[in-house]
Amino acid sequence: MAQSVTIRRPDDMHLHLRDENTLRTVLPYTVRQFGRAIVMPNLKPPVTTVAAARAYRERILAAVPAGASFEPLMTAYLCDNTDPEEISRGFNERVFTAVKLYPAGATTHSEYGVTCTSKVEKVLDVMQELGMPLLIHGESTEAGVDVFDKEAVFLDDVLKPLLEKFPALKVVLEHITTEQAADFVDADRSGRLAATITPQHLLLNRNAMFTGGLRPHYYCLPVLKREQHRLALRRVATSGSSSFFLGTDSAPHERGAKEAACGCAGIFSAPTALEAYLTVFEQENALDRFEAFASENGRRFYGLPPNEGTVTLTRERNDAPRSISPGDNKSIETFMGGGELSWRVSEERAS
Ligand code: NCD
Ligand code: ZN
Repeated sequence: MAQSVTIRRPDDMHLHLRDENTLRTVLPYTVRQFGRAIVMPNLKPPVTTVAAARAYRERILAAVPAGASFEPLMTAYLCDNTDPEEISRGFNERVFTAVKLYPAGATTHSEYGVTCTSKVEKVLDVMQELGMPLLIHGESTEAGVDVFDKEAVFLDDVLKPLLEKFPALKVVLEHITTEQAADFVDADRSGRLAATITPQHLLLNRNAMFTGGLRPHYYCLPVLKREQHRLALRRVATSGSSSFFLGTDSAPHERGAKEAACGCAGIFSAPTALEAYLTVFEQENALDRFEAFASENGRRFYGLPPNEGTVTLTRERNDAPRSISPGDNKSIETFMGGGELSWRVSEERAS
């Protein structure tokens, strides 16, 4: 039985850092494990311009603990009226790495998102030309679609036609949760379509939200699905396919906003994410494929160089806190914190 695992320093290809005190509180947990992260733009107001992304990047860099290295990779929040010129300028000036498409109303802070992809075709044309990835929150917003079917319906109604219309556009289907999405991405051989998978969707099925009562800290979007879907995600994540990679979707919300009559979607996993993924790879007898999922597939898809340095995870009780505090007597619950995991990041080496 392996007692330690060392991999090239990984990247988190889907991360919410928020801003101000929350940013300063959550960022060190990511920096400890990851070399780079694709930073989501769903702030209030959203990051829609090159200037806003530059300023946000500066605030993130100012919050990196002294002596640590971390590169935030910024994304633009796509709106119906986004100017293609702004997107190409941001990409050419190396401010925007990618564009995030939230269907309007699909999730937290998505109200400025896209109402219909026909509205953003000029932007997609430009991105296809530039080789700039489109990151998609893949859930249908059609009225009447069952919450557990939103991803599968989105594949048929939106994603497939979009991929046909833009045959060279690079697309990441973010935080996939279903067998349908896993199989669809797995079947694509073009190399321009990939998917991120979160630790919670690999470790839990929808029963986790209802064990012994309502568990708001297991509520995220897309929502956890049936066991059959969790098994499909585990299969593709550990298969060695380069189309699947690590994206935690760590999404901090303070306790009061989650334990509420209308609670927010989002699971904060930054302190434990890498160890949680490793737990899955060990259970699936795929430790030899962990590095590709965590450190290689994503950065290759984005055309980024490998990170310098390594991280080592050791088999020992994970002492990540059960919750953290951004001040003002607030607290944010940690996914599988408080000793639930038996791997721990024990060492980082710069090179
Ligand atoms: C995310 C958030 O809180 O910003 N929430 C979530 O449940 N995943 C938004 C998102 O990625 O959908
Ligand atoms: Zn997200």
